[in-house]
Amino acid sequence: MRKTENQMLVIFGASGDLTSRKLVPALYNLYKAGQLPKHFVVLGTSRSDMTDADFRNRIVLESEYLKDKFKNAKDDEITDFANKFFYQDLGDSYDVDYASLRKRVEQLNSDYKTEGNIMYYLSTPPRLYETIAKNLADAGLNTQNNGWKRLIVEKPFGYSLETAKALNEGLQQHFKESQIYRIDHYLGKETVQNLLVTRFSNSIFEPLWNRNYIKHIEITNAESVGVEKRGGYYDKSGALRDMFQNHLLQIVSLIVMEPPIGDKAEEIRDEKVKALKSLRIMREEKTLHDHTIRAQYMASDIQGKKVKGYREEGGVDPESTTETYAAIKFYVDNWRWKDTPFYVRTAKRMPTKVTEVVIHFKSPHHEIFKESGIHNKDNKLIIRIQPDEGILLKFGVKVPGQGFKVERANMDFYYSSLMETQVMEAYERLLLDAMQGDATLYARADEVEAAWEFVDPILDYWQHGKDVRMYGYPSGTWGPKNSDDLIEGEGYWRNPGENLTDDENYCVLC
Ligand code: BG6
Repeated sequence: MRKTENQMLVIFGASGDLTSRKLVPALYNLYKAGQLPKHFVVLGTSRSDMTDADFRNRIVLESEYLKDKFKNAKDDEITDFANKFFYQDLGDSYDVDYASLRKRVEQLNSDYKTEGNIMYYLSTPPRLYETIAKNLADAGLNTQNNGWKRLIVEKPFGYSLETAKALNEGLQQHFKESQIYRIDHYLGKETVQNLLVTRFSNSIFEPLWNRNYIKHIEITNAESVGVEKRGGYYDKSGALRDMFQNHLLQIVSLIVMEPPIGDKAEEIRDEKVKALKSLRIMREEKTLHDHTIRAQYMASDIQGKKVKGYREEGGVDPESTTETYAAIKFYVDNWRWKDTPFYVRTAKRMPTKVTEVVIHFKSPHHEIFKESGIHNKDNKLIIRIQPDEGILLKFGVKVPGQGFKVERANMDFYYSSLMETQVMEAYERLLLDAMQGDATLYARADEVEAAWEFVDPILDYWQHGKDVRMYGYPSGTWGPKNSDDLIEGEGYWRNPGENLTDDENYCVLC
């Protein structure tokens, strides 16, 4: 097991939702599992006026996100955990002199023996990232001569290639690339990491993992919820920026990448960047038209309950052209994947919440059981990222009796069957990795930029293209009716579940 050195976690934006919803529960899980170092404190900071006691009450003792976890905990355990939290008010702005912050950091460091090791977690709006990094540097809080300093930044990392590059350059003026940890919570999911293990620790999949045996690859990321209370943010972002540019392209890179030479962070990250750089960038209007579909959810009736359409959500422009559904077909220009189509879709207000990768294998080169109809039922490897985390292999077996009738059978593995194993939550795993200085599951600057390079022309086409369409789909369905048009031949998306409404209300919105 790797060692977690004594350290301090300084959270910027500590009064925000992410801190109480994700970070503190993750820290509590690490505390329970004995994974926090002996000397460890958290210093929250933001523009809210709070005392240490107010902060502890708010994010620990009275937190709705810890209620269930505290049910079986002893009182002195909860108090001990809460006492690790401190708070420092920054005043009216994040753009101030950090001298008083520095004083507090130094005091805590000497009182609690955290050895000068500091992890800064930026959980603020992204426009403040550079300002905070600069002010930390100006206050001498980035120097590593007395303990390491690391910086974790949340998504969105940029709004386009240009802004992502500017942000990278801005941060790198004050922190070295090796100190910067760009978090993508999908990489913290056990099943996403398992993509690497499935591919590179088995000898049965890798020989087939290429254009010779794989017909196409499909990735679905569906959410049943709408934009909830984040309409204001989402309307400026959309599905492509919110999910595809980061989480889904990270999954794509793990499927596409070549075997790394080892398991070191840089060895894996080098291969992921190469993979992202080999995605064929779509530049022609016709390709962009034929290979992309965008759509918005519309009002509908789901099991007797009225559901709002996207344009009626709070914070959303009533004439918004922001997509809540994005489906993209693309190719990968390298030796392994030439001519193999990839189909990736992500959407809100779908019938269910599911993320899965489906590897469709080619039919056997020479089919001797043609009459059995098995050629319509290709072999599939389904990697279920969430929920029901696991792997399913679909293959043909003989139906007992005369002749050679073939049916498809399933061979499956579910993580839930590992009774003894406690699967770590994404933030828990990622925080612990950063605390130990392991950046394998964090995105490097060139990875983020390569992903934007692929996404930028699609965004540009959707904004300025001549014949671009925005379709509508009723909430609770698998997207616009023409979504299957994207799939080559007689293909269609694998929809893991039925529509929740019979609403035929599909249309072209603009
Ligand atoms: C976030 C997006 O990054 O991921 C949200 O901003 C989305 O819009 C969420 O709902 C999905 O994460 P998960 O882990 O629930 O699939």
